[in-house]
Amino acid sequence: MVIFKEAAQLRNFLNIKVENNFNIGFIPTMGALHSGHISLINNARNEGMFTVCSIFLNPTQFNDKKDYEKYPVSTDADIEMLLQAGCDVLFLPSVDEMYPDGTDKMKTYDFGYLDTILEGANRPGHFKGVGQIVGRLLDIVRPHSLYLGQKDYQQCMVIKKLKEILGLSALNIVISPTLREQDGLAMSSRNRRLTEPQRALAALLYQCLISIQTKKTAGDFSIVQKECNDLLTAKGFITEYVALADANDLRLLNNYENNTPMVALIAARIGEIRLIDNILLQ
Ligand code: PAF
Repeated sequence: MVIFKEAAQLRNFLNIKVENNFNIGFIPTMGALHSGHISLINNARNEGMFTVCSIFLNPTQFNDKKDYEKYPVSTDADIEMLLQAGCDVLFLPSVDEMYPDGTDKMKTYDFGYLDTILEGANRPGHFKGVGQIVGRLLDIVRPHSLYLGQKDYQQCMVIKKLKEILGLSALNIVISPTLREQDGLAMSSRNRRLTEPQRALAALLYQCLISIQTKKTAGDFSIVQKECNDLLTAKGFITEYVALADANDLRLLNNYENNTPMVALIAARIGEIRLIDNILLQ
């Protein structure tokens, strides 16, 4: 695996690969890698891609400074995992490399409605930061395919919108299902920060999502939404949202709809840790 810290050097290297007919598969990450990230690397490799992973803890997408400061960093272990997975290139830039003119001068994008609901509403400025960094990374890596995890459902939609805004019609976005621990907890870098008692409770989000799915036949979302809110509160979570939405455009739904593809989404805090999860309703 070749490691680049400078964008220009990575670009020169990838130009040669593209001239030699390699297709570039890109997996952007913030590090603290887990099996979910590695499954994206595997997907890219299985599709015959020349696989580029980036690790960059992007300061501009953290609306909460503490969350940024305490975000787990494990670069040596990450490099080892990427080597084991057969990743071809790791891009490991500094903040100055990604924001040479400072974060304020960096181009931002308007995600409209998507930035006003759920994660957008609860984490002001978050998607602005995601847009900035993903825009910059796409400009440097220019991948044929971009691999994302469904766990960040709304982020996937924001990045699809970014693709549209940037006119990258040829870019293939591949979204892979969330990988889960045995008890159903969605794999996430932030899980490392859970204390043992918090970890024991964390799969409750998934259990709530399953109950939203199961109770679809009963047809009253407000009842199951209240049950989930009450359960999470009783167990010590601070719930930000338990929501149901159209899976295609994230239009929020008050109730289950028969002919609409639906996604249920939850965000809740336990102690200092904010967890999110979602499930596509069958
Ligand atoms: O999902 C993440 O890890 C980040 O939001 C991303 C897409 C790498 C941008 O920093």
